[in-house]
Amino acid sequence: SELPPFSVPLSLPPVLKPTRRTGDTDFYDMRIAESEHEILPGIRTRALTFNGGFPGPTLRAHRGRAVVIRQVNDMASPATVHLHGANVPASSDGHPMDPIAPGQSRVYRYPNDQPAATLWYHDHTHHLEGEQVYRGLSGAYLLSDPVDALLPFPSGEFDVPLLLRDAKLNGDGQLVFVNDDFMNRPTILVNGRPQPYFEVKRRLYRLRLINVSNLEVFKFQLSNGARFLQIASDGGFLRVPAVRQEIDLWPAERAEVLVDFRSVPAGTAIALQNVVALSENKRDILQFRIGGGASSSKPELAIPGWTGVRPPSAQAGIPGWPTRNPPRERVARRRRFVLRFDPATGEFLINDQGFDPNRVDARIDHGATEIWEIVNGDAAFGITHTMHLHLVQFRVLDRNGKPEPGHDAYPKDTVRLNPGDVVRIEATLDTHTGRYPFHCHFLDHATHSMMGQFEVVPRG
Ligand code: C2O
Ligand code: CU
Repeated sequence: SELPPFSVPLSLPPVLKPTRRTGDTDFYDMRIAESEHEILPGIRTRALTFNGGFPGPTLRAHRGRAVVIRQVNDMASPATVHLHGANVPASSDGHPMDPIAPGQSRVYRYPNDQPAATLWYHDHTHHLEGEQVYRGLSGAYLLSDPVDALLPFPSGEFDVPLLLRDAKLNGDGQLVFVNDDFMNRPTILVNGRPQPYFEVKRRLYRLRLINVSNLEVFKFQLSNGARFLQIASDGGFLRVPAVRQEIDLWPAERAEVLVDFRSVPAGTAIALQNVVALSENKRDILQFRIGGGASSSKPELAIPGWTGVRPPSAQAGIPGWPTRNPPRERVARRRRFVLRFDPATGEFLINDQGFDPNRVDARIDHGATEIWEIVNGDAAFGITHTMHLHLVQFRVLDRNGKPEPGHDAYPKDTVRLNPGDVVRIEATLDTHTGRYPFHCHFLDHATHSMMGQFEVVPRG
């Protein structure tokens, strides 16, 4: 687009209100339909939307309170809704082969029986997910818990979901989709707007970075050289918050970071930049405009190495922080999955096979802990992949034989694989039984057809 950077304000998807509440459950109604959205000022862009939103509305859920969503599919094509990162029964997982037909509806039930985390929902219809997510079918699902409430983090308007994605708009301002066309998506959208600006106060902000793009990889920095304090990854809080100069965020990954504007002069601006952008116009993502007013005296976070704040140990400094390691189980089984592009067919394969809904690639005893070695077999083509498992948060044990740093190790549901990388993950499948997909989350790869299934079977 010809729009100069930072000329439109950031917009925030509205928080969806339940249609009904009972003692332990919030009920929602959502409608999936094509509608128009203003991406570029004054231009109506056709998009696929949840409740007319691009991205969809934000859901705020609470651990221990179930969420039940009735999804009506008013599109001309099938839809499935997957809650990414969530521990849910297979019947509510939004399996790619379990679609809502056009004109039909379906009820998804989410128990919210897991720690606080930034989750997100998106379409998952097999062979259509790449295009339908690209055209708009994604949204944030923010799960909180009592630990979250105890921690001295910014909340309310200072707790900001940022859904980031790639896009190509034609001369009429309409979205153009070509599968796997990563060189040709020159626009980055934040919450559905290109390179927006965001007016902030001189205080701490909690930013929930969610990469909802099909193919775009980010390495974020702040233009003033300030550091982020990363407090959570995909599946919730880190054991120890991490001071970061850069945040890597590949498709489907999440990072929660605190950014400190307290000592930034009023009237100045800081950009969130993607330092690995393939073109100059994709480098500047979002501009923070620092407003006047007193700097907040509120949350005092004693994290060594972060901003100017004084030491003690990070863990001691934050009451309620989850400092315990998750329990380690005996490992029942080891498996190996090689991700590879097949130039003969143009398909993306796992262990030389494309997705087959009738095949189960891993049968796992309920309660078992497994170690999976995942190999990016595309060193020759220089193709990056990721591995995402439904249902479970896993631990990344090591990468090419070296331990993964804590902020990238746990809790994770999607792991990055550079060309040639060998990554080992460990997961314990002790919640639901049933069939779930695992796949590359470069969605255009999963669509063609880098996906398999595991099945958790009752023991005995
Ligand atoms: Cu975002 Cu199959 O997942
Ligand atoms: Cu891939």
